[in-house]
Amino acid sequence: MAAPRQTDINATSVWAKLHQHQRATRHMHMRELFDTDPQRFQRFSLELDGLLLDYSKNRITERTLELLIELANVADLAGWMERMRGGERINVSENRAVLHTALRLPETASLPVDGVDAVPEVHAVLRRLRVFSDKVRGGEWLGCDGQAIRDVVNLGIGGSDLGPLVVKEALAAYAQPGLNVHFVSNVDGQHLARTLERLNPATTLFIIASKSFTTPETLLNAQAARQWFLQSATEADIARHFVAVSTNAPAVTAFGIDPEHMFGFWDWVGGRYSVWSAIGLPVMLAIGYDNFRAFLDGGHAMDRHFFSAPFAANMPVLLALIGIWYNTFYRAHTHAIMPYDHGLRRLPAHIQQLDMESNGKRVGRYGEALDFDTGPVIWGEEGANSQHAFFQLLHQGTRLVPCDFILPMNSHYPLGEQHHVLVANCLAQTEALMRGKGEAEAMRELSHLSGEQLDMLLPQKLFPGNQPSNTLALDKVTPYSMGMLMALYEHKVFVQGVIWGINSFDQWGVEYGKQLARRILPELAPGCEPGRHDASTAGLIRHFKERHGK
Ligand code: F6P
Repeated sequence: MAAPRQTDINATSVWAKLHQHQRATRHMHMRELFDTDPQRFQRFSLELDGLLLDYSKNRITERTLELLIELANVADLAGWMERMRGGERINVSENRAVLHTALRLPETASLPVDGVDAVPEVHAVLRRLRVFSDKVRGGEWLGCDGQAIRDVVNLGIGGSDLGPLVVKEALAAYAQPGLNVHFVSNVDGQHLARTLERLNPATTLFIIASKSFTTPETLLNAQAARQWFLQSATEADIARHFVAVSTNAPAVTAFGIDPEHMFGFWDWVGGRYSVWSAIGLPVMLAIGYDNFRAFLDGGHAMDRHFFSAPFAANMPVLLALIGIWYNTFYRAHTHAIMPYDHGLRRLPAHIQQLDMESNGKRVGRYGEALDFDTGPVIWGEEGANSQHAFFQLLHQGTRLVPCDFILPMNSHYPLGEQHHVLVANCLAQTEALMRGKGEAEAMRELSHLSGEQLDMLLPQKLFPGNQPSNTLALDKVTPYSMGMLMALYEHKVFVQGVIWGINSFDQWGVEYGKQLARRILPELAPGCEPGRHDASTAGLIRHFKERHGK
């Protein structure tokens, strides 16, 4: 199936119809929609394997969804899903297939990519990872002085850090006691130095995780880690303490790591989609192979649902379409993610990379200018902390901020009433954002006041409500449900990219800053004059040189 050129989506009649529909319904209040339809929750919610999506607290009607699904059809979503699943090179600017879903396939499946079945290759790497992680976890992989490994440090950044970090943190309840997994991403020396100051080189294993194996932040940290290690060990000991995860075998060898200690993956796995590959090694070390497999199975369950459910009952498609409704037709510029689970506190950061690096684009797949807003600004923070930080703006500010609330029904850490309080808070926020508080209700609370005092306080006690949210309720944060959740957001981003006509799998926008950093670096050396820069940048370079080392 050849990939067709994208229709100008904003020139289609359904695009115009959606604008008209938004104008006709924008004064509708969700409070009334709930009051007039007792079945609204049942009609606008969906459950899959212990993951409930409640999307009833949105400014939508059946008609809104009908039109959004028509939009998805006009954008040929089904065709693009098939192209991705079948391994077509839909990442056109890099001429690559997009097959993170293949990483989650069971061993019995088959998926030919350029004439070679990808599934046996995927499982061959998984088997090597399993052998290695079993040895480390079982205390058989010994460090240079014969002791077992007690600390693992993952050196990687972006997708080689965030995905595994989030999953490992979320699944802390499954981690093997006595084996601590750390993540160092920033080239700011304090990240590595502060991590290493607590560790013993003889019992520490480093994973250098970099798809390209050219990322300066990671390679500098890897060199610094090697120097730290060599202060108390020899070159010959490196093999027991450094492994690499990469697609670039020659660069790994050039760095001094034996290919025996490298775990590979493929160019058809994007960095921000790579936790399912060998990049997930720190997760496997923490929670063990069987739990990691359950994580892959959860992702695969979401894939099966995504590739087979009708759009009207398809979780990633619904999340994506509702997102487009606000982003494109309401011009809401941001989208907040609030996990009510401490273990999921870095999930907003992962989704930020996933979404913003994928869909933060101003040109379409074939280089055409896009004359409408694309990917939103993703942000968020764990609940209940976020309530005490920025919820004031959500409740009474002037902006429309669609939110996702993510809430486990059960906690791994039952402690008195705490989980009930957390759940009550989460549900209360979605209710308050939706309902708001009108004048009659506020007046009742202020019945003891009158005159100027009442005039001053009344407007401040009003809540407009009508702030949309989705709630994702997981039975519990398990490896399987975590897999479902991570895959859900991946597919949501893909669907939005398809509708906007974007290639969600390249990231040219991160290159320019890297280029300029390479140019500026030598100019920071003493005696070197700044090159041609604007006055601000040149002034800041001079300022650094004057003040550095003082
Ligand atoms: O600079 C952005 C980026 O390329 C991300 O896409 C990627 O996840 C990250 O850098 C790290 O890349 P690598 O795994 O190749 O070191």
